[in-house]
Amino acid sequence: MHPSAPTPQLVDQFGRVVDYIRLSITDRCDFRCQYCMAEDMTFLPRNQVLSLEECARLVNIFVSLGVSKVRITGGEPLVRKNALWLFETICQLPGLKECVVTTNGSQLEKMASDLKAAGVKRINISLDSLHPDRFHAITRTGSLDKVMAGLQAAIKAGFDNIKLNTVLMRGINDDEAIDLVNFAIQHQIDISFIEEMPLGEVNHAREQSCVSNEDTLALLRQHVDMVASEHRSGGPARYWQVQHQATRIGFISPHSHNFCESCNRVRITCQGELYLCLGQEDKVDLMPLLRQYPDNDQPIIEAILNSMQIKPKGHDFDLRRAQPAVIRFMSHTGG
Ligand code: GTP
Ligand code: 5AD
Ligand code: SF4
Repeated sequence: MHPSAPTPQLVDQFGRVVDYIRLSITDRCDFRCQYCMAEDMTFLPRNQVLSLEECARLVNIFVSLGVSKVRITGGEPLVRKNALWLFETICQLPGLKECVVTTNGSQLEKMASDLKAAGVKRINISLDSLHPDRFHAITRTGSLDKVMAGLQAAIKAGFDNIKLNTVLMRGINDDEAIDLVNFAIQHQIDISFIEEMPLGEVNHAREQSCVSNEDTLALLRQHVDMVASEHRSGGPARYWQVQHQATRIGFISPHSHNFCESCNRVRITCQGELYLCLGQEDKVDLMPLLRQYPDNDQPIIEAILNSMQIKPKGHDFDLRRAQPAVIRFMSHTGG
């Protein structure tokens, strides 16, 4: 740490500093990706969801506690009405170095330039297939054309970085790794491969479907000239640089390379639940405090400081278990 940097305030029992929050602003989504949601999801009623003002208040409090990076997630964050207001409000906060977003891309055609103007620096877009029919099958409702138009709008808007997120599934899209990397190279953007995590019930067997990033890396190295990179984006990805190209290839490998020991993040759901780990149940409910103390941040600050004592050492995802590690879907926790 730089000698003049402020003393970090959010430090857990293992000495890990939390300086990154992932805030889900809605559990709703216009897609129903197979690994993320059930086909017939019931979504939360409006009064059980934090208002955007409450979201902004929470971000402000976390920033006052030393958080310097906020990633807005969902569900699909950009389907939340007035989402832009939140970006415009929090991106300006002194102390916040990065406000970033993870999206399915469906709303980017109309929103990319406004998000850039609001101060969003980087954007991650999910993309699992370049074949329209497959894309539709994986997302159950999504249109590849719409996402491609969104991606073009994001490229045109000039973000500092655009990263594609790909979950490879055996027998579904595992033959597309090289095509997707070439697509990223052609567009001079990054791509991450994410090992499927056992969250919520899904309608396919994860042990059979999960593709190890070790296998994907071995395959790509045979076809792409790439070298291991020290680059870090502040999250769990480990990167490789494609030689003589702008593109980096990230690997998020909760199964084959556990990264929990360097975890620097916590999650807040759209109901104000502060989850200390993506793969565990430990949480603190902030919504009752936000509503009971509209003009006094101190009780919320204390709850957040105390929560550091229950941040678990790590997830214990085990694909061989029939039951998912936690019953809540990825769309609830925001990935
Ligand atoms: P950066 O924050 O910029 O590094 O982006 P990211 O790639 O971490 O974020 P993104 O929202 O694009 O998430 C990509 C994948 O990483 C999603 O599947 C997340 O669930 C997963 N991920 C992010 N943080 C964690 C974590 O702490 N644990 C686990 N198991 N997965 C995580
Ligand atoms: N395992 C791994 N990644 C997942 N995502 C959603 N559900 C899962 C899962 N079960 C990814 C999406 C999106 C990111 C936020 O999380 O592809 O890019
Ligand atoms: Fe929606 Fe993203 Fe979940 Fe797909 S992975 S259903 S796009 S929230």
